[in-house]
Amino acid sequence: MNEVDVRAAGYRAVDMIVDRSLLLPGLPVGAVCTPAELDSMIPGELPEKPGSIDAALDIVQRLVSTSVMHHDHPRFLSFVPGPGDLVGALADLLASGCNVFGGSWMGGSAAVHMEQTCVGWLRQLLGMPAGTGGVFTPGGSHSTLAAFAAARDRYPVADRHRLTAYWSDQAHGCMAKALSVLGFRPDQVRVVPSDAEHRIDMRRLTTMVRADIRRDQLPFLVAGTAGTTSTGSVDPLPELAKLARRHDMWFHIDGAYGAPAAMTSRGRRLLAGMDECDSLVVNPHKWLFQPYECSVVLMRDAELLKQSFSQETRPYLAATTRQANREINPYDYGVDLTRRFRALKLWMSLTVHGAQSFRSAIDHGLDMAEYAAEIVAEYPEFELITPPSLAVVTFGHRSKLSDLHDFASSQLADEGTAVVAPLTIDGRPAFRLCTINPRTTREDIRLTISRLAAHVRAYHTTESRISA
Ligand SMILES: Cc1ncc(COP(=O)(O)O)c(C=O)c1O
Repeated sequence: MNEVDVRAAGYRAVDMIVDRSLLLPGLPVGAVCTPAELDSMIPGELPEKPGSIDAALDIVQRLVSTSVMHHDHPRFLSFVPGPGDLVGALADLLASGCNVFGGSWMGGSAAVHMEQTCVGWLRQLLGMPAGTGGVFTPGGSHSTLAAFAAARDRYPVADRHRLTAYWSDQAHGCMAKALSVLGFRPDQVRVVPSDAEHRIDMRRLTTMVRADIRRDQLPFLVAGTAGTTSTGSVDPLPELAKLARRHDMWFHIDGAYGAPAAMTSRGRRLLAGMDECDSLVVNPHKWLFQPYECSVVLMRDAELLKQSFSQETRPYLAATTRQANREINPYDYGVDLTRRFRALKLWMSLTVHGAQSFRSAIDHGLDMAEYAAEIVAEYPEFELITPPSLAVVTFGHRSKLSDLHDFASSQLADEGTAVVAPLTIDGRPAFRLCTINPRTTREDIRLTISRLAAHVRAYHTTESRISA
C-alpha cells in the first residue's frame, strides 16, 4: 500500500467513526449474531495475497454496524455501558498510529510522564489524598490484581497460607479471580452477606474477622465497593476504613464504575470515606467515557506496586532502569512489560472537554437514574426494587415472573429499541438500567420503559392464548 492509499483509507475510517456516532441514536441498539451468520460475513480463509483496504473496510463497516451490540448507544442501558468519547477514540488512533511504547521511561518518556500527569489529575478529581500514585491498566480486573498483589506482599511467604480476605456478596467477580490468580485458596475468601440496601453487613463482617483471628487466620484485606454493578449500592466506606485500621488490614475500594461520581457534589457525599483506602480501582472506560481498555489503580503508596512487580534483576532491562526520581518504568508497577500509550485518551479527552464537562456529564447520569425511577412510578404494573444509586436503578413487574422479565427484555433488544438485561435481585426478577451515557435523553428513558411495558402486555396476551 502506498502513502496515498493509507491516507484515503484513514480518512474513510475517521468518517466511518464520526458518521456512526452521529447516526447511532437512530440506529437499532445492536445485534447478537450466530457463528454461522458471522462465518458468511468474515471470510475464514487465510489471506495469502494482498487485498484491497477498501474491501476490508467494507467488511468492518458492515460488522460494526450490524453484528455487535452498541455499548455506546444511548439506549444501551445494560451492564455498565461504554459511552466512549470520540476525542478519546482519536487519541487511541494516534497511540496506535505512532505505536508509542508506554512501558518504560527510556522507551516512551513523554507517554510515561503523561500517564503520571493523568494519575495526578484523577487523584485531584476523585478527592484522593496527596501522595496518591498509580498506573493505568487494561481493565478493572487487571487493576484489582495489581492492588491485591501489593496487599498480599506485605506478608512473608510463610504467613500467606493464613491470609483471609473479605468482601460482600455484591462484590464484582474480578476480586475472587484476582486472588485465585495470586494463588489463594477459595477458603481464604469470606463472602459477607449484604444488608437490605445491598451494602456489606458490618456486624457480620466484624464477627467474621474476630472469628478468623481466634482461629489463627490473618485477616489482611477488606474490599468495599463504591457502586456495585447490580444495584449501584455503596458499601459503608468510613466504617470499613475504621475496621481495616483496627485490624491492620488493607482497605481496597472497587470504584471501577462508581468512583467518578465523586467528581460531583451529590456523588462525593455518597462516596464519603473513599479517600481512606489503600487502593482504589477506577475504570475511565466506564463513567469517564473513554474507549475500552482504560483502567487505573490508585494507591496510597504506589511504591508498594513496585515491590510486588519490579524485576530489576533482569539483565536485558538494565539499560532502561537508569533513571532519576520521577522517571519511572511502569512495567515495574504491574503485570505488563510492553504497554500501549493508554493514558493518551484520558489526557486528550480532559484537555479538550475540560473537567467541568465531565462533571456535568456525570451529573446527567445521576439525573437520568432519578428520572427513570419517576417514569417507573407512572406504570402501576411496575415497582422499584432498588432506588437510584449512583446511576443504577432497578425495577420489576409486580407478577415477579422471571419468564416475563426475560421475554420483555429480549423482545426489546430484538426490536432494536434498547438493551436492558434482566437480572435477579434478592431472588426477584428485575430490570436494571445503568444510565451513565451522557447521550441518553429523557426521551430514551421514557421510550425504553414504555416499550418494556408493551412487551409485558404482549407476554400476557401470548400466555393467555397458549393457556386458552
Ligand atoms: C464494579 C465493577 N468492578 C470491576 C469490574 C471489572 O472491570 P473490567 O471489566 O474492566 O475488568 C466491573 C466491570 O464491569 C465492575 O462493574
